[in-house]
Amino acid sequence: MEMEATVQNILEQETLKWVFVGGKGGVGKTTCSSILSILLASVRQSVLVISTDPAHNLSDAFQQRFTRIPTLVNGFSNLFAMEVDPKVENDDLTNDEGMDGFISELTNAIPGVDEAMSFAEMLKLVQTMDYSVIVFDTAPTGHTLRLLQFPSTLEKGLEKVMALKNRFGGLLTQATRLFGLGDEFSEDAMLGKLEGMKDVIEQVNRQFKDPDLTTFICVCIPEFLSLYETERLVQELAKFEIDAHNIIINQVLFDEEVVESKLLKARIRMQQKYIDQFYMLYEDFNITKLPLLPQEVCGVEALKRFSEHFLSPYQPTLTRGTVEELEQRISILKSQLEEAELELERLQKGKQTA
Ligand SMILES: Nc1ncnc2c1ncn2[C@@H]1O[C@H](COP(=O)(O)OP(=O)(O)OP(=O)(O)O)[C@@H](O)[C@H]1O
Ligand SMILES: [Mg+2]
Repeated sequence: MEMEATVQNILEQETLKWVFVGGKGGVGKTTCSSILSILLASVRQSVLVISTDPAHNLSDAFQQRFTRIPTLVNGFSNLFAMEVDPKVENDDLTNDEGMDGFISELTNAIPGVDEAMSFAEMLKLVQTMDYSVIVFDTAPTGHTLRLLQFPSTLEKGLEKVMALKNRFGGLLTQATRLFGLGDEFSEDAMLGKLEGMKDVIEQVNRQFKDPDLTTFICVCIPEFLSLYETERLVQELAKFEIDAHNIIINQVLFDEEVVESKLLKARIRMQQKYIDQFYMLYEDFNITKLPLLPQEVCGVEALKRFSEHFLSPYQPTLTRGTVEELEQRISILKSQLEEAELELERLQKGKQTA
């Protein structure tokens, strides 16, 4: 029933230029985008992984400091990482380029235009850098979709500005002169800049809507809220005409038969219910399941080790009814017995000293 799949299809799609990784908070987006970028670096000429999350967790995953300048990841010759924070960059823009007064009012009139501008700046920069493929570790769902809406946000903003310009004629130009602002702050320069951004954004938007160039990978966990969010995400992506044909279900618990804990057994059953629903709802997606590890996935070595689950379906270490399973059960019982004996010994010692 369940067709076991992997993300191998992403590595094989040689035309891919933009890979978005998104999903609810904490499900494993950064882990998955880091690993995907490592895997892509083994088959593509050069890879850039970008975090657009202000929480900046690529640095945590790779255990290396990254900034908004692409930096080579330690141990690689063709894998770069950068972390951008829309808010901070916009502050810089305001300070460096004197975007104050009526110009900032102008941008205030267009909600989201500042973020759109810094996103466009970043894309423009990245495009000139000529990476074969760019992986986006996106912020939790809401923010991601806003980011993909930027082209239309900016378009609407520009229409507004144009309308204002037509209505007030040279008034804005006069105002810039009056306040002694240089030519680069003039209305025409600003409009020129916005127009320039628009070109980049339009070009990028065309690329984002081309399934040969762009795909979105949804990361989730086998729980109700995550299933629900994934469905919302998949629908929104369809609305924006952005291709999505991979779902990664992270933090899956396996090995029901050898698990002793009642809690774990219950959670495994719960997970299975949602996993079944994922397979039912997303028949035409590649669904990759990743096991929940006892520890976090931190540092290049851990990421590389975990990456094997991205390329071959996870095999629970044990299958029911085998000699191996019996041996495992016996060893669990043995260790429980040992613990009990130790506990007994401790109790007896306690009695003696009392
Ligand atoms: N399968 C797994 N087993 C164990 N730990 C995991 C697994 N996947 C991710 N983790 C750990 O869970 C934590 C959250 O993962 P990650 O940072 O990738 O999530 P995220 O979706 O990017 O979170 P955020 O929304 O906060 O950016 C990290 O510490 C990571 O090492
Ligand atoms: Mg993250």
